[in-house]
Amino acid sequence: MLAIEWNANQGWSDPIIKPYEKISLEPSAMVFHYSFECFEGLKAYKDKDSNIRLFRPELNMKRFKKSAARLSLPHFNGDELLECLKKFIRLDEHWVPAEKGYSLYIRPSLIGTQESLGVGATSRALLFIICSPVGPYYKTGFKAVRLLATTDYVRAWPGGTGDAKIGGNYAPCVKPQIEAAERGFQQNLWLFGADDEITEVGTMNCFVLLKNEQGETELVTPPLDGTILAGVTRDSILSLARSWNEFKVSERKITMLEVVKAQEEGRLLEMFGTGTACIVSPIKGVHYRGRDLDIPLDPKNPSNNAGPTAKRFMDALVGIQYGEIPHEWSVIVP
Ligand SMILES: Cc1ncc(COP(=O)(O)O)c(C=O)c1O
Repeated sequence: MLAIEWNANQGWSDPIIKPYEKISLEPSAMVFHYSFECFEGLKAYKDKDSNIRLFRPELNMKRFKKSAARLSLPHFNGDELLECLKKFIRLDEHWVPAEKGYSLYIRPSLIGTQESLGVGATSRALLFIICSPVGPYYKTGFKAVRLLATTDYVRAWPGGTGDAKIGGNYAPCVKPQIEAAERGFQQNLWLFGADDEITEVGTMNCFVLLKNEQGETELVTPPLDGTILAGVTRDSILSLARSWNEFKVSERKITMLEVVKAQEEGRLLEMFGTGTACIVSPIKGVHYRGRDLDIPLDPKNPSNNAGPTAKRFMDALVGIQYGEIPHEWSVIVP
């Protein structure tokens, strides 16, 4: 693990790479009481020439800094942390699996460690990074999911913290997730507002591909209005789609009403979630206010568990991540 301590008097200490070990904190440490915790999630990939690659890690550093700032946790230099991370990964390179689809999951975390029950900014903090090899999300091809459009709980709201990757956003989402699972749904489709705007899917960003009322093919994802986590995968899919220039690409509000209407009129083409873990998670159904909506996957081949556009994004991103498609997003760890 990589560990860097901070205190308000001396600032950051020297980074230390050491064996994975327990962290010793007093029960009064602020992280245990007021959720002074933010984190990141990214992966290291091994290409066929045994290079270790990261995918747009500067975006994770930027988001990590933003999350830390939201919790008044200490500022840090994202470029310097990325250098530390690269040294750490290089030292642990034997843990990066070589097979395509496998990777090393990297989890940076920053916690407030001051012993205090007073609610205020922490005067001590610990930044640490741990990692673990992970297998492919889809071992036997895509597995499309069914969602419960959740109307009893809200993940994020205007002026809240939905756009920060902080622990406090995640624990409250587990109860709705368990309830959805008990009803046979793999994820919650998080909605917001009186008109049931689509926000995110589980811990993923959400994309809808449809023919809009003007007859244009349009890829829609909700805008970064403060309720949406700025996913690295989300940004990458938007950039790829814009570079293909084959259909309209919109970051705009989209409501369940619009999706239901498009579905009823045969204009809904695909829906999928996106995130580092799965890259693309095709959606085959949504249960919304007592109704089951079937979401199309691949009309040409009903046995396919992903629509053609979801698959195309998946193939493009995996190709870039494993260095098969040369791209500036894939950074070789020196
Ligand atoms: C709430 C939430 N939304 C979206 C994402 C997807 O973000 P990314 O593509 O950076 O993994 C994540 C995962 O980090 C998440 O936790």
